[in-house]
Amino acid sequence: MCGIVGYIGDKLAQPILLNGLKRLEYRGYDSAGMVTYLPVKNSLSIRKLPGKVRVLEALLKKKPLSGNLGISHTRWSTHGEPNQVNAHPHLDCKNEIAIVHNGIIENYAVLKAQLIKEKHKFISQTDTEVIVHLIEKFYKDCSLENAVRQAISKLEGSFAIGVISRREPDKLIGVRCGSPLIVGVGKDENFLASDVPALLDATKEVIFLEENEMAVLSKDKIEITSFSGVPVKMSPVTVSWDVSQAQKGGFTHFMLKEINEQPAVLENMLNQRILKDRPEVFFDQLKISREEIFAVKNITVVACGTAYHAGLCGKYILEELCKISVSVDLSSEFRYRNPLVDKDTLIIAISQSGETADTLAAVREAKKKEAKILAVCNVLGSSLTREADGVIYTNAGPEIGVASTKAYTAQLSVLYLLAIYIADIRKTLDTNTKIGLINTLKTIPRLQEKILKNQKEITAIAQRHHHFGSFLFLGRHINFPSALEGALKLKEISYIPAEGYAAGEMKHGPIALIDEYRAVVCVAPHSKVYEKMISNIQEIHSRRGKIIAIASEGDEKIKELTREVIYIPQVDELFSPLITVLPMQLLAYDISVKRGCDVDQPRNLAKSVTVE
Ligand code: G6P
Repeated sequence: MCGIVGYIGDKLAQPILLNGLKRLEYRGYDSAGMVTYLPVKNSLSIRKLPGKVRVLEALLKKKPLSGNLGISHTRWSTHGEPNQVNAHPHLDCKNEIAIVHNGIIENYAVLKAQLIKEKHKFISQTDTEVIVHLIEKFYKDCSLENAVRQAISKLEGSFAIGVISRREPDKLIGVRCGSPLIVGVGKDENFLASDVPALLDATKEVIFLEENEMAVLSKDKIEITSFSGVPVKMSPVTVSWDVSQAQKGGFTHFMLKEINEQPAVLENMLNQRILKDRPEVFFDQLKISREEIFAVKNITVVACGTAYHAGLCGKYILEELCKISVSVDLSSEFRYRNPLVDKDTLIIAISQSGETADTLAAVREAKKKEAKILAVCNVLGSSLTREADGVIYTNAGPEIGVASTKAYTAQLSVLYLLAIYIADIRKTLDTNTKIGLINTLKTIPRLQEKILKNQKEITAIAQRHHHFGSFLFLGRHINFPSALEGALKLKEISYIPAEGYAAGEMKHGPIALIDEYRAVVCVAPHSKVYEKMISNIQEIHSRRGKIIAIASEGDEKIKELTREVIYIPQVDELFSPLITVLPMQLLAYDISVKRGCDVDQPRNLAKSVTVE
């Protein structure tokens, strides 16, 4: 939550900072701001406004900022409403130091009271402002980095900050403690950012700061130290993402582009993870040996949001193929309930961003209990990948739309492959079945493409249903999590109340909701629970609920119960979540567009939830 970009070099800072902010808007979009250093006046010049980065952009068009040093911010507000005063950057009393911050300062109230006693003038309601006044307090006869070091030693909470000072305009300082921050390495210029996409136009060489590290950048030098000042060995990484992946590429929205990328994401994954010459799954950074996997007695998945739904599907897949007990926990619940995990447990932590605060906390909790941690993650070098024992990257490329789509199918794909891999070790799959599973997986990208070609039909259904005041999504067995994900997609981006339910539970409550004003999406492909789904659909039909069925091609029976059928290609039930979720993503997308909602940046949400 919140995005930071910083620049120091010979170029004009403003366009670089603005471009970076646009790429980080998925992290929050309540307000945006920028400050640069103007050498002629030896002053810090600031522009900030409530609203999205485009509002700031318009202001900068009228009142541009010059200077070659600057920091900027896009905010997801925690403390203080999203108005101009609370927007970052924040300045000290003398307008000498500027700061941008991502995270939460938990002890800010105590610090603020103390600083007010010491005559510091506060103007905002933010927790962030205490940091800049603390730096001011310590910035007497010492360097900026020294003052920052003293200031952060007083802070409790999580923070990534960017700091500049007009007293030392040859320095850009970044600090990481609990929130992500990377350094971009350039030639005669260097950068700070919360995430890689912000820097893709400028450089592909990045250094992922570790926890409790500080970077002091000048245009031609980078120094990284621990908080106590001990120099740290720098290991720059070249990122493989390219700029076009962070652009819309002709699509109206990132979400639509990302939905359409799913067949390619799956295809790449299969090419990367299945040996060319034999049907074997392999993972290059697993770092958990076959012996260790063999010794595992149970698996616990921890995740949030969409990743949690992938984890729920994972339970069906792993239990079916590996014959091992799997529990799935919301990270926020797991972390506070003294979970029963130990050295015999494999924790699979699923996270697109690798920065979700609750998932990181859950992993730390499990580590204390000596469980092995395997991260399933999309973002190279993210906190989760560094704290886990092993990593499987989902390699879906940057996902910019706040509502997760391609990352979800990439997570599911990893879980299928991982299940085949573990089943092999545990000898719970015979070779022919394994070959059959791999061959089926290879057919999925083409089947997904078929659905994507059918979007017009789904758009027409959206046209007929976008006015409904609430939706129910029902599914059974492995498509129960698909129903949860369908409901989540719709509510996230269209703000229509939507509930996902296991269809078998319908009679235990949701049936009371059904009348002619209720739209009910029924995930009912051919499967061993198909007849059960048909019974549910009949019950909804007789209560005049408006059914939208997702059914297998050739299913005529379902037509007798509803005229709204989205046909999907037939596929083995085990793999059906890779197919059934696509029409629900498209339906949510089309309904959101019809209702005039902000598809890519839905209100109140942020893509990366780095605070509790
Ligand atoms: C937020 C995002 C969701 C995402 C969830 C977990 O709620 O809006 O799209 O599924 O966080 O994020 P993660 O990065 O851990 O997968």
